[in-house]
Amino acid sequence: MYLFDCITSRSQYFRMLIKIAAVFVMAVFVQGEKLYYKPKMIKIIPGNEVEPQKKPDFCNKLDCPEYKVIESSSGYELREYTATHWVSTTLAGVDYSEASGTMFHRLFDYIQGKNAKKEKIAMTAPVLVRLIPGPGPACESNFTMSFFMSNKVTDPPAPTDPTVALNSAPTFRAYVRQFGGYVRKIEDWIKEAQELIKSINDSSKYYTKFYFTAGYDSPFRIFNRHNEIWFISK
Ligand SMILES: *[C@@H]1O[C@H](CO)[C@@H](O)[C@H](O)[C@H]1NC(C)=O
Ligand SMILES: *[C@@H]1O[C@H](CO)[C@@H](O)[C@H](O)[C@H]1NC(C)=O
Repeated sequence: MYLFDCITSRSQYFRMLIKIAAVFVMAVFVQGEKLYYKPKMIKIIPGNEVEPQKKPDFCNKLDCPEYKVIESSSGYELREYTATHWVSTTLAGVDYSEASGTMFHRLFDYIQGKNAKKEKIAMTAPVLVRLIPGPGPACESNFTMSFFMSNKVTDPPAPTDPTVALNSAPTFRAYVRQFGGYVRKIEDWIKEAQELIKSINDSSKYYTKFYFTAGYDSPFRIFNRHNEIWFISK
């Protein structure tokens, strides 16, 4: 199928995994430091309790976008996401792992303070990658990686890296396939995407020219890892 023809994996995966592991160590360190100096206080004002955001378990401690399930089937879930804010970067390339490594660094630098206010922003989930596979002999695909902007960041600082941009998504619906384990190469994502296509069994229901990979865990989480493939509903 055309959608998957052009994407191949090179031996970049482990190099990327190590890079991502390194930045997650930094993230844990920085967040731990923040927690140490500023313990979180939960204030309950009688009669004015704010209902805590119901977060899916697979987000663990990270903030992640809210959604409701519209339809649940054996092979997929149709979700409706509320309007969201993201910080994104785009890259054209052939290799998914290499592109992901580069884009992850750009976005991670942004949340680590490479922005107009030199503000640090907590890591969120998922790390979303949109793939637009390209036709033609060079098989160059367009990749866009996005980090979710938590509602807690009320005024996201402007990025200083010209390849990084803030953007908003209106409410949208996505067909989602969920699976566990480590995703070691692009072929693993493709296999799951093909399963999702089979379960939906109606390509008129979603956009077929692109799809998303969503990762929720750092390389350090060994058990209960969570990954998703999304097709956007029409
Ligand atoms: C990728 O993006 C570039 C620049 O925006 C565009 O010219 C090109 O057509 C895109 N390729 C695909 C496969 O969408
Ligand atoms: C897929 O859809 C076709 C009709 O469009 C139907 O005949 C077929 O049984 C469906 N397959 C599954 C596995 O639901």
